[in-house]
Amino acid sequence: MLIRLLRERFRPYLGLIAVIVVLQLVQSIANLYLPSLNAHIIDDGVAKGDTAVIMHLGGIMLAVTVAQVICAVGAVYAGARVAMSVGRDLRAGVFDHVQTFSARELGQFGAPSLITRTTNDVQQVQLVVFMTFTILVAAPVMMVGGVIMALREDVQLSGLLLVIVPVLAVILGFAMVRLRPLFGSMQKRIDAINRIMREQITGIRVIRAFVRDTHERERFAGANADLMTVAVGVGRMMALIFPSVFLVMNVSSVAVLWFGGHRIDQGPMLVGSLVAFLSYLMQILVAVMMAVMMFMLVPRAEVSADRITEVMRTSSTVVPPVEPITVLPGRGHLELRDVGFSYPRATDPVLRGVSFVAAPGEMTAIIGSTGSGKTTLLQTIPRLYDVTEGAVLVDGVDVRELGLDTLWGAIGLVPQKPYLFSGTVASNLRYGKEDATDDEVWHALEVAQAAEFVTAMGGLDAEITQGGTNVSGGQRQRLAIARALVRRPEIYLFDDSFSALDFATDAALRAALAPETRAATVIVVAQRVSTIRYADRIVVLDDGVVVGTGTHPELMATNETYREIVLSQVTEEEAA
Ligand SMILES: Nc1ncnc2c1ncn2[C@@H]1O[C@H](COP(=O)(O)OP(=O)(O)OP(=O)(O)O)[C@@H](O)[C@H]1O
Ligand SMILES: [Mg+2]
Repeated sequence: MLIRLLRERFRPYLGLIAVIVVLQLVQSIANLYLPSLNAHIIDDGVAKGDTAVIMHLGGIMLAVTVAQVICAVGAVYAGARVAMSVGRDLRAGVFDHVQTFSARELGQFGAPSLITRTTNDVQQVQLVVFMTFTILVAAPVMMVGGVIMALREDVQLSGLLLVIVPVLAVILGFAMVRLRPLFGSMQKRIDAINRIMREQITGIRVIRAFVRDTHERERFAGANADLMTVAVGVGRMMALIFPSVFLVMNVSSVAVLWFGGHRIDQGPMLVGSLVAFLSYLMQILVAVMMAVMMFMLVPRAEVSADRITEVMRTSSTVVPPVEPITVLPGRGHLELRDVGFSYPRATDPVLRGVSFVAAPGEMTAIIGSTGSGKTTLLQTIPRLYDVTEGAVLVDGVDVRELGLDTLWGAIGLVPQKPYLFSGTVASNLRYGKEDATDDEVWHALEVAQAAEFVTAMGGLDAEITQGGTNVSGGQRQRLAIARALVRRPEIYLFDDSFSALDFATDAALRAALAPETRAATVIVVAQRVSTIRYADRIVVLDDGVVVGTGTHPELMATNETYREIVLSQVTEEEAA
């Protein structure tokens, strides 16, 4: 998975990667050449007392070292460049892909996991790429080259390698098998920490109000301890590996000196060769160790790559049409035809057989008890969720055949829980229409009964914090209404958008809204009878089913559910 993921991402950097490989090759060869030069100095220079040879070979050694250093620095620089670029590309890829998700996919992964996947998981992959180019490319060259050079120094002594290298390999192989599952749970527990942290920050007021501080603290401590346990497990494995590796290295040095000493005694080997052999042995073992360190990162990066790929493979259930219709054929005539909807993993449908028509210039109200499916119904119109049965038609065209931009451009949605973005009042209001003039913006604010408090806040440049937490719930609602008004869409969807307003503001807003939305199709979800009683059509929703459609007087006369709702709020005389 990791390899497949990276193969695609490496494509733009193949040139740079080739440069890295060449630099690493030169660097490794230089590294391999040095001990043999050293051996020459000892055997031909020092042993014979020939200063000229020492100076000459010493000069060459210096030059080789300088070349090696330059190549190594270049390789690390280029390696870092490729790794960071690949990381950036991956992050951008995941981000862009997540943007296409509908509410269904977002719910499936959850925000905390998606955040970890775009940040931490990408970082793991990035780290492995970096290590690959700084260490792994050189390691095989050093290993193979080291063995060849060792053989050249002394064939018999090289027999020791047949013992040392397998021993090392077994130790490291064992460690890797043990580490992989640990890394898997590590990423999951980072997800958990993220989730709890997010929940606690978002819900801080509720936590305070319900005096759940201690409970929440314990919950976080629990998740934190879980992560620590795995991390300690990983640390313990690592702690075991390094001493073992050093043990192997040192024992093998002793063995080489022991057997080498005997061979020098017997005559076939020179002192310089033994020194060189020892250097090669160390180079081989260091290369093996580096490769292993690298392979310890690989399992973690593999887990991360799986998690990234999982996101990239999930395609949105809201599929844009192949041949989208990009121009609305009319003025935003809306029809729901036998709409049914079930949430993923839910057994019962939330909406069943919902049908009604809403024409431009009309106001259609939807009323129903909480949980009757009003929000769900509105969300199927801009395809936040796709209906599971029936169809939503705008101007006679199924919304699934409209281009997404066309559809969204025609709809002004004021969600039940309006969200404002960090920035200013102006930046939020221009969210759907960037080139709106100040006059247009102010006009929208006035209609939404928001001009007064915006002026008090300091005008259009007043700051809005993330999520709009520095304005009250009712102010947020009014800003969200103004945001929808600035766009002048064909279809307005107000989801319980007047609930946080007092009666007077509610009435003033509706009066100002009427001329604005005269030509548009307006759908209003509301709880308050006063908000909707003059609607052209009232749709009564009960447990996902339409139990009545008509005007206020009609429904009062014929519909029991509607009568109950109305009479729970006003007296018989007021309702008439
Ligand atoms: N994301 C979701 N996943 C699963 N079920 C959901 C989801 N959102 C809502 N539901 C279920 O769908 C039903 C209808 O919810 P919906 O939000 O549409 O109600 P509503 O009529 O807007 O209520 P309210 O008046 O309280 O806003 C509820 O019973 C709820 O349990
Ligand atoms: Mg709702």
